[in-house]
Amino acid sequence: MNYSLRIFICIFLFTLSNSLIYAQGGRIPVPAENGMVVSSHHLASDVGRDILKKGGTAVDASVATAFALAVTLPAAGNIGGGGFLIYHGEDGETTSFNFREKAPLAATREMYLDENGKVKDNSNHEGILSVGVPGTVAGLYKAHQKYGKLAWKDLVQPAIDLAENGFEVSMPIAGFSNMLKRYETEYPSTAEVFLKKDGSPYEAGDILVQKDLAETLKRIRDKGPDGFYKGKTAALIADFMKKEGGLITKQDLLKYEAEELTPVKGNYRGYDIISMPPPSSGGVALIEMLNILEGFDLKAAGHNSAKSLHYLTEAMRRAYADRALYLGDPNFNPTMPIDRLISKDYADLLRENIQEDRASVSDSANFNKAHMAYESPETTHLSVIDSQGNAVSLTYTLEQSYGSKIVVEGAGFLLNNEMGDFNAIPGYTDSKGRIGTEPNQIEPEKRMLSSMTPTIVAKDGKPYIIIGTPGGRTIINTVLQVIVNSIDHGMDIALAIESPRMHHQWLPDTSYFEDWGFSPDTERIYQEMGHEVIRRWRQGSAMGIMLDAESNIIFGAADSRSYDGKASGY
Ligand code: GLY
Repeated sequence: MNYSLRIFICIFLFTLSNSLIYAQGGRIPVPAENGMVVSSHHLASDVGRDILKKGGTAVDASVATAFALAVTLPAAGNIGGGGFLIYHGEDGETTSFNFREKAPLAATREMYLDENGKVKDNSNHEGILSVGVPGTVAGLYKAHQKYGKLAWKDLVQPAIDLAENGFEVSMPIAGFSNMLKRYETEYPSTAEVFLKKDGSPYEAGDILVQKDLAETLKRIRDKGPDGFYKGKTAALIADFMKKEGGLITKQDLLKYEAEELTPVKGNYRGYDIISMPPPSSGGVALIEMLNILEGFDLKAAGHNSAKSLHYLTEAMRRAYADRALYLGDPNFNPTMPIDRLISKDYADLLRENIQEDRASVSDSANFNKAHMAYESPETTHLSVIDSQGNAVSLTYTLEQSYGSKIVVEGAGFLLNNEMGDFNAIPGYTDSKGRIGTEPNQIEPEKRMLSSMTPTIVAKDGKPYIIIGTPGGRTIINTVLQVIVNSIDHGMDIALAIESPRMHHQWLPDTSYFEDWGFSPDTERIYQEMGHEVIRRWRQGSAMGIMLDAESNIIFGAADSRSYDGKASGY
């Protein structure tokens, strides 16, 4: 995006906002003694903190925060999407929950292609066919069944209150409402929720009430997942799908189940890394990159020096190539070489062909040189720790901002457009980020490959860093850099999050640097090694917690790249 356009957007949003800015992130971490919730919306963080104060566990607080975000952060907080949760108990127990969306039963491998083999009208990303079977309600419930202490209904109720009584709109929702005004006839059920009764858009400071969403949440409060996957909500979804030409049926909803999975684990300079296994590519790629980087002295090279950036890039290039080649839904890819990908031996081999001062070339013989794929920034992450020391790292998403932008008529919630995370054109890979490899082809009931990387770094069996971020394929690299900033460069959690970031994803063979964060001299030296650089605006919006083992102080930090994020501790 060019500079004047950015300035224009800033002025536009500022005017919209009447100067209302809620973001509470920054370079100073928020300290707390007992517990902490960090999320992308201040009201949701406060809901989670209050649950902790009432004696709720980290999982209780995560569930309540996630439901609250489904009301206050409709761009990404959701009940119509899916995600992942990593758990680390104070006793060292670790596990993960997979509630990624699934392809509907009627989905087919080439469902988005026209007669020329091209994707028809961006239909894998836009419109009713882009919607996957939602997993969030099933996943939150499954985690609560195992690790919750407070009653389920008490965790859903704060979200109902926010939907029913309303809350103050800030800049992002006002921006969406303004945009929607131009498309209200295309999205009538969405306009019903996100435009005012008189048809005008919401402005920052207005109160947004979501009555239909409150009713849906009440059914979930009273009946658990049955309040979503059966009965009235399921009927509303299925009827709406039928009317709009979508694929999801009552049977799809009935068959949806969340899974508990063993996390992937690695070790980086003595710290344990616990992260999400497939169908997320996040944990495997993160550990692969850390294993490669362990062989370089990043501290001596200096934070964000050209040399450090070179090492990071070469690790990213290799891990993202493997991501594309090998990873997909394990239920459909039983022989993925995960143990090999996260092994130290494999990293040693990969490191051997990294030159000290020369960029490798991503093998692009079979790929078209083009622009970067659109990276959906609209996922959201929350990190939680309770007074016992149990930790949760949860990332969930609608895929793009406001997902499909389609609200289920009468049910008041937005549907995801997650089907776009499958490989749409079998066998066709290009540098736009379109990958055509086999493991992530569409199949009924399959889960699309994700980059979400909810992660917990532990030391001596206790959580040390709880971290995650939105950002599409950049997610894995953002989490990587927060970890490296903390472990190699000794930063506290706020500095580790605030520091400028970069991204490389194998193809295109281009590095993306956040604007204003890297000096021209650094960029020049880096380019002289053979790397191509493009500057762009923000990368991710990390929400993190770090525990100081000596003082027992919990530090939280909400990325200042987020408008409304907050670390709420007590
Ligand atoms: N939809 C973004 C991701 O799952 O990676």
